[in-house]
Amino acid sequence: MSNRKQTGPPEPSNDPGNSRAIRDWYQDLGIDEYYRRHGKQYQNPHLPWIQALIERNHARLDLSHCLDFCCGRGEVSKILLQLGYRQIIGCDPYTQSLYQQQSGLDCLAWSFEDLLQGKLTGNYSCIISSFALHLCPRDQLAPLVWQLFNCTSQLVIVTPHKRPELELIEGIELSFTDQVLTQRGKRIRLKVYRPLMPPE
Ligand SMILES: C[S@@+](CC[C@H](N)C(=O)[O-])C[C@H]1O[C@@H](n2cnc3c(N)ncnc32)[C@H](O)[C@@H]1O
Repeated sequence: MSNRKQTGPPEPSNDPGNSRAIRDWYQDLGIDEYYRRHGKQYQNPHLPWIQALIERNHARLDLSHCLDFCCGRGEVSKILLQLGYRQIIGCDPYTQSLYQQQSGLDCLAWSFEDLLQGKLTGNYSCIISSFALHLCPRDQLAPLVWQLFNCTSQLVIVTPHKRPELELIEGIELSFTDQVLTQRGKRIRLKVYRPLMPPE
């Protein structure tokens, strides 16, 4: 059943079928407008699987100084805090204040567009982006990812899709990957990338 007649954002839900509704919202409003209006209500129904992926892979990552890009309400950052990591900063143009309230951590507000203009600076041991980079327009993905690699040599993607496939971008290598299956058989992937030539 279509949700086009709904008047508000999808109810927070642990039902993975909720992603269908979000696709409808993306179609109706556009991704940016959806998060501008409803970003604070969005709750990721796949949190248990994101947590499982991070818990079983964190020792293979350098999370000593981590940027949580497109951080939402801090889903990933809160898992990292529980694991004992402390030097974490968020970045999200639509949920900055919510992230700060929920996690107690600082948050930048750069968007994809801001990154393409070179606004992200700094040096992070790891940038992690969960359930977000597949939202970047395809023709902007490679330049966006190179902006991220200007600030880190380890990029961790958590995604409910095959996309983004950054291994198809010349100069980027998939270091390792892991995946879990939800109860409904949906594949949630963790993909860890590095640039073949680290930035100067
Ligand atoms: C599906 S949510 C994922 C949130 C969180 N990382 C998680 O795993 O649950 C996508 C996030 O991307 C952010 N986002 C949407 N459009 C964006 C843009 N143009 N630039 C940067 N972030 C954006 C939204 O604000 C939202 O927090």
